[in-house]
Amino acid sequence: MISEPSSLLSSVFVLLMILKTSALDKYIAAVYEHSVILSEATQKPVSSEEALKLMNKNMDILEEAIQTAATQGAHIIVTPEDGIYGFNFTRETLYPYLEDIPDPQANWIPCDDSQRFGPAPVQERLSCLARDNSIYVVANIGDKKQCDYMDPKCPSDGHYQYNTNVVFDSDGKLVARYHKYNLFKTEVQFDFPKKPELVTFNTSFGKFGIFTCFDILFHDPAVTLVSKLKVDTILFPTAWMNVLPHLTAVEFHSAWAVGMQVNLLSANTHKTGMNMTGSGIYAPDGSHAYHYDVESENGTLLISELNSRPSVSPTYLPMVNWSLYASNIKPFPEDRNFRGLIFFDEFTFSKLKSQAGNLTVCQKDLCCHLSYRMIEQREDEVYVLGAFDGLHVVEGEYYLQICTLLKCKNTDLQTCGESVTTAHTHFGSFSLSGTFSTNYVFPEVLLSGVQLAPRGIQVLNDGQLISQNGTSKPILTVTLFGRWYEKDPPHPAQVPLRGYGQNMSALSLQYFLVFLLFIHTVL
Ligand SMILES: *[C@@H]1O[C@H](CO)[C@@H](O)[C@H](O)[C@H]1NC(C)=O
Ligand SMILES: *[C@@H]1O[C@H](CO)[C@@H](O)[C@H](O)[C@H]1NC(C)=O
Ligand SMILES: *[C@@H]1O[C@H](CO)[C@@H](O)[C@H](O)[C@H]1NC(C)=O
Ligand SMILES: *[C@@H]1O[C@H](CO)[C@@H](O)[C@H](O)[C@H]1NC(C)=O
Ligand SMILES: *[C@@H]1O[C@H](CO)[C@@H](O)[C@H](O)[C@H]1NC(C)=O
Ligand SMILES: *[C@@H]1O[C@H](CO)[C@@H](O)[C@H](O)[C@H]1NC(C)=O
Ligand SMILES: *[C@@H]1O[C@H](CO)[C@@H](O)[C@H](O)[C@H]1NC(C)=O
Ligand SMILES: *[C@@H]1O[C@H](CO)[C@@H](O)[C@H](O)[C@H]1NC(C)=O
Repeated sequence: MISEPSSLLSSVFVLLMILKTSALDKYIAAVYEHSVILSEATQKPVSSEEALKLMNKNMDILEEAIQTAATQGAHIIVTPEDGIYGFNFTRETLYPYLEDIPDPQANWIPCDDSQRFGPAPVQERLSCLARDNSIYVVANIGDKKQCDYMDPKCPSDGHYQYNTNVVFDSDGKLVARYHKYNLFKTEVQFDFPKKPELVTFNTSFGKFGIFTCFDILFHDPAVTLVSKLKVDTILFPTAWMNVLPHLTAVEFHSAWAVGMQVNLLSANTHKTGMNMTGSGIYAPDGSHAYHYDVESENGTLLISELNSRPSVSPTYLPMVNWSLYASNIKPFPEDRNFRGLIFFDEFTFSKLKSQAGNLTVCQKDLCCHLSYRMIEQREDEVYVLGAFDGLHVVEGEYYLQICTLLKCKNTDLQTCGESVTTAHTHFGSFSLSGTFSTNYVFPEVLLSGVQLAPRGIQVLNDGQLISQNGTSKPILTVTLFGRWYEKDPPHPAQVPLRGYGQNMSALSLQYFLVFLLFIHTVL
């Protein structure tokens, strides 16, 4: 029997509705590394028309990337931090670029009703791009929020300015707003939010969390989103300046995804003159797609499929104990040590003298063990094993425990730790481990040409980072980058009010008492 056309149609419709709303095991992610068009450096603020003109130029380029990603089936696309207005602003010159971004609970589709919270041309355009292409769009823009004397922290110009990520769903609705908590020291144009915001949202392809750039080095909100709120994927707009050997974008961000066992969609700004390049689609088993380009000024779109819920996938690692192996073996013989600097931190180093061997280097509480075999030992390249256990204090304060195997810049041991981007030494195998006091350790492997290792590197449950059969390219560094968050100094926004602030609040209190007295007298 043939069913009535109308009932057939309605069953198809119901089926489509189910497909659209039911959970997906996999989804397609896109990130766009954008070569941002910068504003002219001016001392005076431009008009809001001029500000919008520049932002529209950048959004014209993002629009192409969004359309291409959608055409290729992407469910979500991440664009970079500062990707719409650039950087190098003062507080005053940034102001014309800002919009009031409401709490997503307002249930707002700017594409339908752009004036509801005042002028919002940027949010309107992003919302329409999301809706017209039926794709989630993640972007980084600036939020402004008025405040007054009742708030002792209110800046003297009467408003806050926040570095803000926004997410519009595939209907164009604003579903997430996140104010960056760990501002980089040069971001004087922005204010800190009062406390770290834990921003998440659900989709049919998993639970998402979001933060920005420098946030990835700190506990809040980054670690809390993964360990407490159990998000499946982190959205990560960034404007990351690469620092070798341990903090280049592709290296550190892929390592964070592996260490935290979470998906991470990282979209970097592209500005080679500022060492900004390196975006990727990372998962608990490593990099699915990445891009690193110091040759051109071109933007690049990356697209890759990911598990919607990596924690229930078969490749998910059971909990790693990062110190188990290292704490339970008899340390290898320690050779003669020397000191050297990596990004202002004083490491203890020991040279890899023979073609194969076992070596231990210690600093304070941390001992690093390495077993290795080189395919051939070259005369013109020197490798060291290094250990660092201490507070990093330049461009931010954070406590590190690091075990690293790295190539020195040249055969002079004084160059160990300096930037080097190429190598020729192939390792047949290695195992690196350390007696970490923290269980937050990010395993990095960086190969010649600042490339990631596709596969063949493994993290074992006992905390060894191993390669049994060597890597596809020569090694720049193999590193266990540990973060001991408990030893970090307090966040700048959480330091109790001092000086001006304290005097101000004391002053406000005085005024309040006078005001009460006044009311009392009048009544
Ligand atoms: C930033 O702007 C100032 C002027 O406001 C200019 O002197 C400086 O060169 C600019 N820096 C960069 C990196 O563009
Ligand atoms: C997401 O869904 C989970 C259950 O699947 C629920 O517990 C949680 O409250 C939801 N979160 C949000 C932000 O809607
Ligand atoms: C970029 O990196 C190189 C090599 O590490 C360094 O010499 C240079 O100062 C960096 N440039 C900027 C703008 O930080
Ligand atoms: C950059 O883009 C231009 C124009 O699309 C193209 O001709 C050039 O080959 C690209 N360069 C690289 C290194 O991809
Ligand atoms: C890991 O193993 C060490 C050494 O056996 C043990 O002291 C520590 O408690 C373990 N850590 C975790 C997080 O299970
Ligand atoms: C390194 O130690 C392992 C046992 O831990 C041993 O099997 C191996 O022979 C040693 N390698 C060298 C070169 O000493
Ligand atoms: C390493 O090579 C051996 C022999 O070729 C092979 O049996 C083993 O599976 C390889 N291991 C990995 C992790 O690829
Ligand atoms: C705050 O007040 C104290 C005295 O109460 C004074 O010594 C200090 O200079 C003031 N600080 C500022 C920044 O005004």
